[in-house]
Amino acid sequence: MNPTHRKQHDVLGIGVVAVDDLIYVEEYPPAEHKVRVLGRRRQCGGLTGTALVAAARLGARAGYIGTLGPDDELSQIVRRTFTAEGIDLAHCVVRPDARPYHSTIIVARRPPSRTIFSHVDGRAGADPGRPDAAVIRSAAVLLVDHHAVEGTRRAVEVARAAGVAVVADFERYPDSATGFDELLRRVDHLVLPERFALELTGAGSPKDAASRLWTPEREAVVVTSGPQGCWYCDARTATDPRHLPAPTVDVVDTTGCGDVFHGAYCAALAEGHDLDRRVRFATAAAAIKATEEGGQSGIPRRAVVDRFLGGWNM
Ligand SMILES: Nc1ncnc2c1ncn2[C@@H]1O[C@H](COP(=O)(O)OP(=O)(O)OP(=O)(O)O)[C@@H](O)[C@H]1O
Ligand SMILES: [Mg+2]
Repeated sequence: MNPTHRKQHDVLGIGVVAVDDLIYVEEYPPAEHKVRVLGRRRQCGGLTGTALVAAARLGARAGYIGTLGPDDELSQIVRRTFTAEGIDLAHCVVRPDARPYHSTIIVARRPPSRTIFSHVDGRAGADPGRPDAAVIRSAAVLLVDHHAVEGTRRAVEVARAAGVAVVADFERYPDSATGFDELLRRVDHLVLPERFALELTGAGSPKDAASRLWTPEREAVVVTSGPQGCWYCDARTATDPRHLPAPTVDVVDTTGCGDVFHGAYCAALAEGHDLDRRVRFATAAAAIKATEEGGQSGIPRRAVVDRFLGGWNM
């Protein structure tokens, strides 16, 4: 990408943000058990929220253009966090009925697992008609997720018409799936977790899923498979997707690894890197995150990822 043509924003996110209450336990219990809590932590999360924090820490000029409430506690927590991370909120849409998701996440040490209980007390994610199209066009990359399909589709159409790259993280079918197939079709960088990629395609493996998700309308497809790394393809490799294994690290907490992968992918895309480099960068950032507790607190900064990449022999 020619630096003289840099857009005002590298990455704008329009999906969902959340406030996560993380509860750490030794083992996830069966029903009717009483369990000692090893630790608690409250932090911001959500697919788009965590990805934007990752993009910002990795050097991208990031902004949030989804919705928040005017003065409720959860929205204020998100505002404070984003402001501290340098994420631009100037074009965030304020609606009286908008709220972040509120999640309680149980992180068990043995065997390592995460169980997420999530709800929203209002509307979350993209507004159907805002922000202005000019704001969306001011970005190099638009990051979307599977919430609020109507507003997300509108933003994607504006972005595609202006040549803004669209990166999507869809983890499941939206609650109201109307228009989702069309949204899925219009994404040019589809980066999906294995479970949903297999469900969508009926494929028997992440490699096959990546291949089946490819269409000539896309720039890239990536299927992430946790500790197995990811399979990815573009026009040249659509019939034989490549595999990048995740590096072996001392795993402490994988909360948010997928979101960090997306944020890092977006940051590298905004910098103009090719698919191999984007995927390597995202894989390194997500692996480092897995070595730290917490969804957002463990997200590495740019220098840490660059150092890791320098010493990573695959
Ligand atoms: N245990 C791990 N060790 C190293 N890297 C990991 C590990 N778990 C996840 N990752 C990295 O994070 C990427 C995304 O993880 P995953 O496929 O689990 O996404 P996800 O299911 O969307 O997770 P999330 O719930 O965090 O969004 C993987 O492709 C990999 O690069
Ligand atoms: Mg995910």
